[in-house]
Amino acid sequence: MTATIDHLDDEVSTASNDTFSGLLGRLNDQSVRPGKHFDAYVDVPWDEHPIDPTDPRWELHALDGLGATAWYQAQPQDVRARMGLDGIASKMQIGYFFEGVLKRGLLEHATTLPAGSPELRYVYHEVIEEAQHSLMFQEFAGRAGHATVPKLPRRAVSGSRRVVKMARAFPELFFIFVLGGEDPIDHMQRETLRRKDVEIHPLLERIMRIHVTEEARHLSFARHWLKQQVPTLGAVRRTILSIGAPLILGEMGGMMMKPSKALQREYDIPAAVMREAYDDNPEFQQSAAVAMRKVRGLCRELGLINPLSKRLWKARKIWADDEL
Ligand SMILES: [Fe+2]
Ligand SMILES: [Fe+2]
Repeated sequence: MTATIDHLDDEVSTASNDTFSGLLGRLNDQSVRPGKHFDAYVDVPWDEHPIDPTDPRWELHALDGLGATAWYQAQPQDVRARMGLDGIASKMQIGYFFEGVLKRGLLEHATTLPAGSPELRYVYHEVIEEAQHSLMFQEFAGRAGHATVPKLPRRAVSGSRRVVKMARAFPELFFIFVLGGEDPIDHMQRETLRRKDVEIHPLLERIMRIHVTEEARHLSFARHWLKQQVPTLGAVRRTILSIGAPLILGEMGGMMMKPSKALQREYDIPAAVMREAYDDNPEFQQSAAVAMRKVRGLCRELGLINPLSKRLWKARKIWADDEL
């Protein structure tokens, strides 16, 4: 894969100048172009790069909240590496769950679209790509020793059913959910790939590069779909959307950026260390707000930020004034 991460950024910003139908044409074209779409079992060299759980490349770096704590640094090397690998595998399992909800929602959305339309075609390309991502994540998690999907909180499971229904009943809210799941992860993966001082395991690097390449299209589609649809909404739905967005985004961000409860239990991470690493760590809080920068900017552009919703963004700790 030759494209650099910065080049991928350019692709997204060029897309923002397109009309929606022009964008759909371009996304459909890229989705079938060699070198722009990938297969989990053709394009990832699984057997060339076996996973050794004690490999120092799995260790958390200081930029990760937990990696910077004295508690983590006092662990033996093999525990530090194993904890880092388990953290990655468990995020992939959560990603697998999220992508399952996303695919079900996209298929619901597709039932509202006319046969032969460019949007219907693109939605199916996205479903296919998400299925490939889910295969990659599951294969990685299995090879890392995480054969079972962690038990998800009941709230997440019942919430996921509501999200799938929402894709038909209130698709604007569904696409906010999509951005909440995709945008912060995309941001974190790009940041990791840009870093020159961290050696990434080649398997993980390949997975991340494939993911950011295809996510650029998904994000572009979701943003432009919202830009086209939100202005057509009435006042009531707009108000619901302005309140729903920070609630959904806050929930998604927390799930993806902190170690899961299961991982905290497995490694006996003390509650005080979790607070030091995440909740009471201004650097982490700032990075969580930065990861939401693009989606926050979009919400502002769509007129979804008002005094009440701003209070919710702040309460969920995903607000930053800097770039607004
Ligand atoms: Fe994905
Ligand atoms: Fe995606």
